Amino acid sequence: PPAERVELHPYNTKTNKYEMHKYIIDPVIASAENVANYNDFAFIAHARTAKTYRLDAAPARASLVGGGQPETDVWAYNGTVPGPALRLRQGERVRIEVRNALAQETTVHWHGLRVPNAMDGVPHVTQPPIAPGGTFVYEFDLLDAGTFWYHPHAMSVEQIERGLAGAFVVEEENPPAVDRDLVWVLDDWRLTREAQIAGDFVNFMDASHAGRIGNTITLNGRIPEAFAVKAHERLRLRLVNVANARIFALEFRGLAPLVIALDGHPAPPHASEGGRIVLGPGMRADVILDIGEIAGGRAPVVDSYYAQRTYNLVDLVVEGSARPAPLKETIRLSDNPLPALDLKNAVRHAIEFGGGMMDPKLMRARRPDGGMDPEAMRGVRERMAAGRIWTVNGRAVMVLGHGHEPLFALRPGATCILDLANETAWAHPIHLHGVVFRALERNGRAPARIEWRDTELLHPGERATLAFVAAEPGDWMLHCHVLEHQETGMMGIVRVG
Ligand code: C2O
Ligand code: CU
Repeated sequence: PPAERVELHPYNTKTNKYEMHKYIIDPVIASAENVANYNDFAFIAHARTAKTYRLDAAPARASLVGGGQPETDVWAYNGTVPGPALRLRQGERVRIEVRNALAQETTVHWHGLRVPNAMDGVPHVTQPPIAPGGTFVYEFDLLDAGTFWYHPHAMSVEQIERGLAGAFVVEEENPPAVDRDLVWVLDDWRLTREAQIAGDFVNFMDASHAGRIGNTITLNGRIPEAFAVKAHERLRLRLVNVANARIFALEFRGLAPLVIALDGHPAPPHASEGGRIVLGPGMRADVILDIGEIAGGRAPVVDSYYAQRTYNLVDLVVEGSARPAPLKETIRLSDNPLPALDLKNAVRHAIEFGGGMMDPKLMRARRPDGGMDPEAMRGVRERMAAGRIWTVNGRAVMVLGHGHEPLFALRPGATCILDLANETAWAHPIHLHGVVFRALERNGRAPARIEWRDTELLHPGERATLAFVAAEPGDWMLHCHVLEHQETGMMGIVRVG
C-alpha cells in the first residue's frame, strides 16, 4: 500500500473510563393505527405492519476526540455519530421515515440490504433526492440476516465524512448465543487542530490518490481508549468500516478471532489470513472473539494496514470473569436465502477500472527515453482537469453529471459472471448494489472458501471474477466505495430488466 501523510491524534490518557457510545434504539411507532398517519407521505402503507423508525439528518455536535478537546460540528442522524444502530429481525418489515434537516439534498442507501430498486436511495436513479426540509419514507422486507449499514448517497463525499452513517443489524431468527453482541463502527476523520472537520472535500490530491485519509480514528464515534471485557467472555463483534477511504486491517493481539460472516453473509468460521481482518470502506465482518488468557490483562487491537502506520486502535482490558473456562463450541450461522447461481447459463461481462495517479497503462507507454507520449498525456490531462480522474471501461461517470447509461443490461433472474480488473495503482473496494455476489476466482485462483459479499476489495493490479443473480429489476449502482474515487468517475450502472 502507498505511503501517505497521517497524523494520529495522541490518545486521551486521562483516567476517565472509556464508555461505549450508547445507541439510541427507539422505534417511533410499531402499531397498526399509527401507520395510518403516514399516508400523507409518498409511500403508500403496505398491508403488512412494518416496524417504523424515524431518522432525522441534521447538523449536530459530537465529542469525537474527548479529553477536554472541543466538540466537533457534525451532520448526524438523530443527533448521534454514528447514527442509531437499527436492530431488527430477519423476516420483519421496516419502514423508515427520513427527514432532511440539512441545507442540501440527501437520500439514504441501505448498504448491502437487498431491497426493491425504488427503496435503494440513489438520487436521480432510484428516487428524486430529498430536498432540504423534505421527507422520504423507505419501506422494505428484511430478507437477509447480517450486519449492514446505512448512509446518504447524495454528496456522500461530504455527508458521510461529516458523520451521516449508521449500522443496520438484522438478527437471525435464532441468533447464536454470545455474551454480548456489539457493533463497532470504525470511522476516520480529517480534523483541524480545533477538532473541526477539514473542509477540503474531494480535492484533487485525495481524489487522484488513495482518497481522503484522515488523522483521527473513532470507534462508535469516539477515539477509544480501553474496552472492558471479561475473562472467558464470548463476544460477537460486528465490524463496520464507514470511512470515506481508509482501509483497516485489525489484529486482536494475543486472541484468535473467528470470522463468521462477511458483508453480513455467513462464511465458514475461519481465522482470517495472517490474523488480520481487512476491511475496505463499506465492508463488514462479524467476528467471534473468545477472551482467552490475556497476558497482563490487556490485549491491544492494532490496525496495521498501512505500512509504517500501525497504531493501537483500542486496548481490550480484562475486568472480572464471565465463566471459569472458555466456551468451546464453534458458532456457525445458517445461510441467507440468496437466489441460486446458474453458472451454466450465465452471461459474462468484464469491467476494467482505470485512471488515477501513476496510471500503470501510462507508465507502460513510456518512451525509451523515459518521457511520456504527449498525445496520451494530453488526453489524460484533459480528462483529469474536468474532474474525471477514474474510469470504468474507459468512461468516467460523474455523480451529479449525465452519462448514467448502463454499463450493460441483464435479464431479471439471469446469473451474471463479472470479470473485474483493477488497472490502477490504487486499491478500490468495489460495491455493487442490489445483489450479493460470490468470487469464483481471485487473481486466477479459486478462493479458499465460499464467501458472499457486496463489496470486493481490489488491490493494485488485482482481478476478481464474481458471480451473482440479477434478481430485482432496476438500475443498480456499481462503484468504488472510496468516496472520492466514486465522485470523480469510478461508478456505473448495471441495468436489470
Ligand atoms: Cu455504501 Cu453505493 O454505497
Ligand atoms: Cu477506488
